[in-house]
Amino acid sequence: MDAKIIILALVSLFYKANGAFYELSVADEEIFSSCPNPEPGTLDIHGLFDFSEFSTSLEADGLTVSGNQTLVWDIQRGDRVQLFIKLFYFDRGTWTSTAFSILSQDFCKTMYDKSNVLYEPWTGHVMNDVKDQCINAPGTKLILDTYFLSLSASVTVPLREGRYKTTIKFRAFDSKGTERPTSICCEVIGDVFKIRN
Ligand SMILES: *[C@@H]1O[C@H](CO)[C@@H](O)[C@H](O)[C@H]1NC(C)=O
Repeated sequence: MDAKIIILALVSLFYKANGAFYELSVADEEIFSSCPNPEPGTLDIHGLFDFSEFSTSLEADGLTVSGNQTLVWDIQRGDRVQLFIKLFYFDRGTWTSTAFSILSQDFCKTMYDKSNVLYEPWTGHVMNDVKDQCINAPGTKLILDTYFLSLSASVTVPLREGRYKTTIKFRAFDSKGTERPTSICCEVIGDVFKIRN
């Protein structure tokens, strides 16, 4: 999964249609960074995936993604997984909230649905027969096709150019609703440019 990542996927999700064209440049070749000041029990993206068979390469206008991701988050099959994605804008030295956020109370229900915000940049490229498993099934290997993730998107709302970050958080709950001791938090930081009208 990667960077269009979610910043532009998220924005274009809310505002699908033709408008000006924007491009995202990702700040870090690794794409995902750890969240600052994490609460105890917070893991970064490596707490979710083993990336040893996975690679991305940064091209002029996007990313080529290939390989496998093996799930390693130590939670239980059947756990409910909550996904929270929030977009921030860097305004005069401070990360400020934008109106863009997505909360999915039961990510596993829609992990492979086209409507899922992570479908285009990620789960839509899973090739093997693991779609009955969710990210609560450690040991599962997701085999991805090799794909190009464009970092441009067309949005109708005027988008402020500048630096954005997306925070992505996964939390897991057992059948009684008790939260598991670990959660996943990662960030994607990038700059958004307008490339044409
Ligand atoms: C991905 O997994 C498949 C099946 O286990 C394996 O054949 C392939 O070599 C793996 N790809 C990489 C890049 O390691």
